[in-house]
Amino acid sequence: MSEIKHEVTKDPITGVETTGHVWDDTLQEFNNPLPAWWLWAFYGTIIFSIIYWIIYPSWPTGLAERGFLTGLSTIEFTSDKGEKVTTHWNTRALLAQEMQNDENELKRQKMVKEVAATPLADVVKDPTKSAFVLAYGKGIFGDYCAACHQSGGQGVIGNFPNLVDDSWLWGGDPADIETTIRKGRKGHMPAHKGTLSDEQITAAANYVLSLSGEKVDPELAAKGKEIFNTKGCSGCHTPAATGMKALGSANLTDKIWTQANVPGADSPEAKIEAVKKIIAGGIDREMPAWESRLSNDEIKVLVAYLKLLSQ
Ligand code: HEC
Ligand code: HEC
Repeated sequence: MSEIKHEVTKDPITGVETTGHVWDDTLQEFNNPLPAWWLWAFYGTIIFSIIYWIIYPSWPTGLAERGFLTGLSTIEFTSDKGEKVTTHWNTRALLAQEMQNDENELKRQKMVKEVAATPLADVVKDPTKSAFVLAYGKGIFGDYCAACHQSGGQGVIGNFPNLVDDSWLWGGDPADIETTIRKGRKGHMPAHKGTLSDEQITAAANYVLSLSGEKVDPELAAKGKEIFNTKGCSGCHTPAATGMKALGSANLTDKIWTQANVPGADSPEAKIEAVKKIIAGGIDREMPAWESRLSNDEIKVLVAYLKLLSQ
């Protein structure tokens, strides 16, 4: 091992100073300091980060009130209740603030309020308002309703009613539709397989199908009519079988099927089977309530949207 010498010299070829360390008699190291601009840029990033930490939410720390340092920067926006709220900088408050100041967003909110305050008949007549309802309503419907009722509102037979055929279980007045959306609905029809024999259910199915003009066995349909009027069916569906909106009991005479998949049946026998299945098994389904999840104005827009679609 040779001894390490310390002697700062200049390299004769490049003119650069060495660090003064010499290994193995000749091996030396250049002393090339970092360029000043680089160093200052580096110090700059450190200074920037310190300022950033002071202004914006940064370090997680158990000592701070919120579990992290919130920073000095604040955002002011108006809460849902109309109060001015000042809070530490955060993206949710930033979004709220932008929504309150963005010109398009303000226009949209103004339009929603206007539509909500206008009687439906006038919304329908006003091309600007109805165009707005169709566009904006489609968005809300897509977010909250389409998962069940499908994006066009056509529903799924047996599961979710069609909302665009202007046939309503629970009533089609704007006030009825509003109550449906606000409070939700429970569609219930008892199963009859325990109380009626298979022959009786077949007869009732023949009668129900005859009401929609389907070809059925007239004798069975006549028997079915008697069952309908004596075994409780008419109590819910009315003797004329046109349904009661207070119970959400289907109109059985309108050729519109929400539960029995008659349109999907390819033979008269399959149609009987589809109706028998409903009479035997009953119905239990629920429309959720939206009152706590949508604003009053949004619900009004949805009512107008459904009325426009089902016109
Ligand atoms: C989880 C599934 C589901 C969602 C989501 C849903 N619905 Fe429904 N909706 C139903 C069911 C099921 C019924 C049928 C209730 C019954 O059998 O009486 C129904 C019924 C309705 C009816 C009554 C139809 C009639 O014929 O009277 C309206 C109106 C309606 N929904 C609107 C909406 C709107 C608007 C939304 C979105 C805010 C929505 N629904 C979201 C399941 C849903
Ligand atoms: C307690 C009240 C009640 C009684 C009793 C009742 N129903 Fe219903 N029925 C309903 C309701 C409510 C619906 C609609 C439910 C829904 O779609 O959510 C319905 C729906 C139906 C449907 C489906 C219609 C469609 O559009 O697909 C048929 C068919 C039907 N009832 C026939 C009968 C027959 C036949 C009887 C007697 C054997 C009967 N119901 C007794 C309440 C009743």
